[in-house]
Amino acid sequence: MKKYYLLTFGCQMNMRDSELIAGQLEALGYERTTDQSCADLILALTCCVRGSAEDRALGRISQLKPLKRDNPRLVIGVGGCMPQNPDSLKRLQEACPHVDFFFGTRNLSELPRLLEEGRRDDKAVVDVTPRDDECIEKITPVRQSAISAWVTISYGCNNYCSYCIVPYVRGPERSRKPEHVLEEVRRLASQGYKEVTFLGQNVNSYGKDLPGDWSFPRLLREANEIEGIERIRFVTSHPKDVSSELIEAMATLNKVCEHLHLPLQSGSDRILASMNRGYTMARYLEIVDELRLRVPGIALTTDIIVGFPGESEEDFAMTMDAVQRVRFDGIFTFIYSPRPGTKAASFPGQVPKEVKKDRLQTLVATQNRITLELNQALVGKDVEVLVEGPSDKDPSVLAGRTRTNKVVTFPGDRALFGSLAMVRIKKARLWSLKGELR
Ligand code: SAH
Ligand code: SF4
Ligand code: F3S
Repeated sequence: MKKYYLLTFGCQMNMRDSELIAGQLEALGYERTTDQSCADLILALTCCVRGSAEDRALGRISQLKPLKRDNPRLVIGVGGCMPQNPDSLKRLQEACPHVDFFFGTRNLSELPRLLEEGRRDDKAVVDVTPRDDECIEKITPVRQSAISAWVTISYGCNNYCSYCIVPYVRGPERSRKPEHVLEEVRRLASQGYKEVTFLGQNVNSYGKDLPGDWSFPRLLREANEIEGIERIRFVTSHPKDVSSELIEAMATLNKVCEHLHLPLQSGSDRILASMNRGYTMARYLEIVDELRLRVPGIALTTDIIVGFPGESEEDFAMTMDAVQRVRFDGIFTFIYSPRPGTKAASFPGQVPKEVKKDRLQTLVATQNRITLELNQALVGKDVEVLVEGPSDKDPSVLAGRTRTNKVVTFPGDRALFGSLAMVRIKKARLWSLKGELR
């Protein structure tokens, strides 16, 4: 049997795409390997959201060169967001002559053909022509988990935040047909899945391009009816599209988890406007208040960019203030990275690297303290955990997540995999909680 090895960088979109790729390859008779040196086929899904993400992917793919030398029959393909961006594709082509083919984010269903062409042709094949999204409905994915599943609800993005490359590499926003989404959730339920996470760059604007009056809250309401599914999550939400109807859905639908990832990006209105985010700090705080009122115990997480062009000490102080006011459960922090082709890359007032690094450190230190405080407040409390498997760090204990998306590890029997367990929290750390079965 031929073996394939998958390298996945970037966000859940790529994770989900790699499940579809695995599905196609296994249908073609390939078997997965976790050892790249014995693979007949290596596929990488790349990310270019920040320069560092791009460099990481590029570095890793360059390192595959000796494998190709040792085994000339090895086929290497590179997909994901980098090939979709002409600058990044050029970098890849220059640094990686050992790659046989490149494919874009809307070419997954072309894989069987690309494999053939890549194997046959001497010159690297490139296919980044957008294909109809419906093509991938026929693919049966091979999923990473048997308990929790990703379900794409929309592709692409229309928001054009001034710093962001995603709309260019993932295309305009397209909502997946609700019947396809709900059918997939039903199928997952019948296969024993307990949790679904709806994926989209901006799930809140779901349905705006569909006939009929579809909306994200409606999709949540319909999914909530599907028997067998215990938990529904979703990422990512854009503050400008958080409606009272969404908050109402989160407050009333029993399966929709008490967690919202709501990227703030900056606490300064001036910077938010320059980022083209479409909301102010006051509006964001209003949403937070309504959420906390209507969804008691809700966990909030966010993304923050430091060092956006023109960000002054004062602007940064406003971000620090916002973080301390909201007290997020967790933050993904990023140093602004100019992406060629985006508006902000040519804005004046690019912030020096050292300043960006200092701001990041200040932010991370404050947030770590807050996260730990919030986690410590859970000690002694009982929480519901969906048991997802053995802990990565210590396979002798079980690991799962609370409805608020916090990782909990605890001793217990493997028979609990896939079930909801009540766990008493004994110890809090920054990234996880330790507990005991009730
Ligand atoms: N659609 C999602 C996620 C987009 S990418 C959203 O809007 O939230 C994930 C995060 O990467 C963004 O929220 C942003 O914080 C960060 N990011 C995007 N482009 C960036 C850039 N050029 N430099 C630094 N961080 C960036
Ligand atoms: Fe990028 Fe903004 Fe779209 Fe998110 S909403 S993917 S940050 S353009
Ligand atoms: Fe990266 Fe593409 Fe996701 S650029 S963040 S993998 S949409």
